[in-house]
Amino acid sequence: MTAAFETDVLVIGSGPAGSGAALSLATLGVDHMVITKYRWTANTPRSHITNQRTVEIFRDLGIEDDVLAQGTEHDRMGETVFCTSLAGDEIGRVRTWETAPERASDYIAASPSPNCDIPQTLLEPILVGHAASRGSRIRFDTEYVGLEQDADGVTVTVRDRTTGHEYTIRAKYVLGADGGRSQVAEDVGLPFEGEMDLAGSMNIVFHADLSHYVEHRPSVLYWILQPGSDVGGIGMGVVRMVRPWNEWLVIWGYDISQPPPEVTDAEAIKIVHELVGDDTIPVTIRSTSLWGNNKRYATRYRAGRVFCLGDACHRHPPSNGLGSNTSIQDAYNLAWKLAYVLRGTAGEGLLDSFDAERAPIGKQIVLRANKSIEEFGPIFDALGLLGESDPEVMTRHIAARADNTPEAAEQRAKLRKALELKNYEFNAHGVELNHRYASNAVVPDGTPEPEFTRDPELHYHPTTWPGARLPHVWLGGAGGRRVSTHDLAGKGRFALLTGISGSAWAEAAVQVAEKLGVELVPYVIGPGREHIDLYDDWARAREVGEDGCVLVRPDTHVAWRSHGLADDPTSELTRVLTEVLSR
Ligand code: FDA
Repeated sequence: MTAAFETDVLVIGSGPAGSGAALSLATLGVDHMVITKYRWTANTPRSHITNQRTVEIFRDLGIEDDVLAQGTEHDRMGETVFCTSLAGDEIGRVRTWETAPERASDYIAASPSPNCDIPQTLLEPILVGHAASRGSRIRFDTEYVGLEQDADGVTVTVRDRTTGHEYTIRAKYVLGADGGRSQVAEDVGLPFEGEMDLAGSMNIVFHADLSHYVEHRPSVLYWILQPGSDVGGIGMGVVRMVRPWNEWLVIWGYDISQPPPEVTDAEAIKIVHELVGDDTIPVTIRSTSLWGNNKRYATRYRAGRVFCLGDACHRHPPSNGLGSNTSIQDAYNLAWKLAYVLRGTAGEGLLDSFDAERAPIGKQIVLRANKSIEEFGPIFDALGLLGESDPEVMTRHIAARADNTPEAAEQRAKLRKALELKNYEFNAHGVELNHRYASNAVVPDGTPEPEFTRDPELHYHPTTWPGARLPHVWLGGAGGRRVSTHDLAGKGRFALLTGISGSAWAEAAVQVAEKLGVELVPYVIGPGREHIDLYDDWARAREVGEDGCVLVRPDTHVAWRSHGLADDPTSELTRVLTEVLSR
């Protein structure tokens, strides 16, 4: 059968992984096509926390301003409240997402980009819109049916859901970005560890003006401890801001061992009123849906010419807000590699680095998100709620912490400690940024991996150790304007950063780029040069001598570094790039 369409890359799905891949591929000029099952993008605002690494990627893709303009800025994200209802007893607060004064400097120093809160319903159209305007061919209402691969490509059968008509698309590579129930991952037999549907959660999206209860303690998450909140689900009831302060999403647990509940609008309003603690508030229900909490990850993301990414490979609860972030980061990691291989600038072997680099991160976030759920246990314990189901007893136990007794003092101390543990969910900067890749697309420099000097989950440890994300520092650029080291890298090109005494590296880079046909842009950082080390931050961050160099990949991860000038910088750079690109 002759395929109805031919393309270099076929992307299946238009969620954060698929639309992220489409935008990255379109920006790099790769011929590709997207098919996606429904008539438009996400219809419910599931993901929202968008971390610095992802916003940095958006910066490189030229959409950072659009995302930040539509997102809620971080200083309205972080008074995370634990209470018995919005109108009820406030049990405690945790400062989250970079808003704690003692943590703010970590985030400001780490990245040129702030985190933000943007619901998936607003983010996906930005990604899809820019992708389409840059050349993506996107076919909605088109469902993946099956695939067959051979030595030269993949033939994918799809169904037009408006007509039922089936046809085939021939692609050199296929990206399975079809979410947590990925048919593509199943069809190509990706190996998985872990389990699905461990607990049930219910989303209720609604409009209601809750300003009165939240404006003075702005946050994206209000955690509600009420009888029933520990049934399945993510451990507690959540009232989550979608748009401040009139669009919301409630998450509530249900018992997954029972048949799925049918939630009427009247029942949904009742749950909302109970969590708000005020049944006079007018509530308009927009939608209700059910989802399962998973703990499952693929140990391999590739099967021949088919790559899976996003929730297709890592399936976990929303704790830590990592799902969409990681999906977009997967796409960004893969897109430049496909572009180089398709252009003939890199060998096929470069594609092996995709799952070598991303699968360990997928596993890490699945385990982290699940652990964050377990870490609600100490809060329940401190409040005396474990094993209790009688609402009156629970209320009495929560109230007991206000007593002037030694037991209550102990309870207060226990609660403080339990709330501190939630930093691993809401301030896990290290989980977000400490991505250190080990693969055939990274060339070691012979030094051991730098040890973490602070908790690696909570704190980011900047390093130019090969495989790590390039540290951000501000440099002086044209007209004295501040430019991030990240602005020198990215854009589908390799970058080489060196100092004045390393100028020979820059000259070598020009020759090697020409010889290998690779876009490699050298930057000599120092006085009288185009980029100045304004605050000497680069000298402190680079971990190599002024005559050394740091070679950065198109995805702003360090490919290799040299501590000083080599005897023959041209042959050294040729050796390294040849290895990184599997030539
Ligand atoms: P996703 O499921 O989003 O998309 C799959 C795509 O494939 C869709 O376009 C679908 O139509 C398409 N598709 C499926 N089957 C198909 C077929 N057979 N043929 C064609 N197309 C098909 N994450 C985060 O980073 N920060 C956060 O704050 C949160 N918060 C959050 C809250 C809640 C309540 C939930 C449930 C989830 C989150 N997440 C999150 C997680 C986030 O929503 C999730 O990780 C991403 O949507 C995953 O993106 P994908 O693109 O991989 O899959």
